[in-house]
Amino acid sequence: MDRRRLWTWAAAVVVIATAAAAAGQEKRLLVGMTLVPGAASTGAVCLDGSPPAYHLHRGSGSGARGWLLQFEGGGWCNDAPSCAARAGTRRGSTRLMSKLEVFSGVLSNDPARNPDFYNWNRVKLRYCDGGSFAGDSEFRNGSSVIYMRGQRIWDAIISDLLTKGLAKAEKVSADLISTNLYTFCMFSTNGMLLVSAWV
Ligand SMILES: *[C@@H]1O[C@H](CO)[C@@H](O)[C@H](O)[C@H]1NC(C)=O
Repeated sequence: MDRRRLWTWAAAVVVIATAAAAAGQEKRLLVGMTLVPGAASTGAVCLDGSPPAYHLHRGSGSGARGWLLQFEGGGWCNDAPSCAARAGTRRGSTRLMSKLEVFSGVLSNDPARNPDFYNWNRVKLRYCDGGSFAGDSEFRNGSSVIYMRGQRIWDAIISDLLTKGLAKAEKVSADLISTNLYTFCMFSTNGMLLVSAWV
């Protein structure tokens, strides 16, 4: 191969790589954070007292009545010092979280990458209570207050989503959270929605 031809090849490779990168960028779906309205008034707050949040990308067409809920992971805190430390991080405060989330995998809106759920309503529930949406207490010692209000956060998010169409859901899919404390399960048949939490 002569030098000129080699350069042509190299240029072609660069062009293709750039185009592929641009296509990848175009498909990246960023979804903004929704702070749950009125949640704080019911005591549904993150470890640091900030309001709970989710990210919702609306469904359409045949998926308009489908709902996919995905829970953010992140382990637990175990006592006042560890929960106090967590309250000052993105794991314990929506103030410190990214306000835009990349929706990929089962949250993607690309039918080629996510054939089952691409046009459903897809929700990412942010995790900020340190106890897998299960606790309902608070810690005060005079100098600091830490909220462990996972159950209230769960109720506040589900209540808000019910008003946004979850109440009319015909198909619901949720990650099963299974800890040694709680299992959450949601399913529906023809508009009947069951939301359960049991020990
Ligand atoms: C209150 O608890 C926090 C978190 O464990 C701790 O950092 C702080 O020192 C405690 N304050 C008092 C007065 O005990």
